Amino acid sequence: MNNYIIAVDGPSAAGKSFLSEEIANRLGIIYIDTGAMYRAVALYFIENNVDMNNDNDVQKALDEITIKFKRINNKIHTFLNGEDISLKIRTEQIGMMASKVSAIKRVREEMIERQRNLAKDDSVILDGRDIGSVVFPNANLKVFLTADVEERAKRRLQDLKIKNPRITYDEVLNDIKKRDNKDINKPISPLIETEDSIRIDTTSLAKEEVVNEVIRLLKERDVL
Ligand code: DC
Repeated sequence: MNNYIIAVDGPSAAGKSFLSEEIANRLGIIYIDTGAMYRAVALYFIENNVDMNNDNDVQKALDEITIKFKRINNKIHTFLNGEDISLKIRTEQIGMMASKVSAIKRVREEMIERQRNLAKDDSVILDGRDIGSVVFPNANLKVFLTADVEERAKRRLQDLKIKNPRITYDEVLNDIKKRDNKDINKPISPLIETEDSIRIDTTSLAKEEVVNEVIRLLKERDVL
């Protein structure tokens, strides 16, 4: 069986990570959470006071950043220079910063190259914003996962409440709207739905239904 690539793109909190992790576990393939890579860069920039507007500082930082993914008990953990940062990067502050660093051309070039390298010798599922459009335009299956913004805010609120019980629905909704705006309007690699991607609206679908639909699509295309 040849290696294959599954691209999952879509706005924040549409359920991309859950879907991708579940598919990766079921099929025994590698999951690359590209959003976590931009979040790792964001964390590094914050912790090391990197000046985003200084090209030399940005390059120096990228040279020092190692990002690795490891599967621990069927969950993918993200490591930045050896430290497990999986929990640390799931805050709205890091989300906003990730959105900013992901708009820097040099950061994108570097991350895209790393994503392509990670997928060189294996079957992989990647989730992000530009996977089907830029990173792997020839992916075997491109899914565009979306859901109404109110539903996405509700889901994100549940996740964030675990860390911050005081966070409100309105705050989360506003942040997601801001992030959507940034993702769609950024000059390089904006979030777009490619013509050959399959749109799945998850607003009223159970998680399991989404996973089964993707498996069905893979079989339909003889990928599985
Ligand atoms: O999916 P996420 O919320 O973890 O992504 C964090 C930020 O990184 C988000 O604002 C969009 C950006 N991103 C990107 O520009 N390209 C990707 N392939 C993945 C994420």
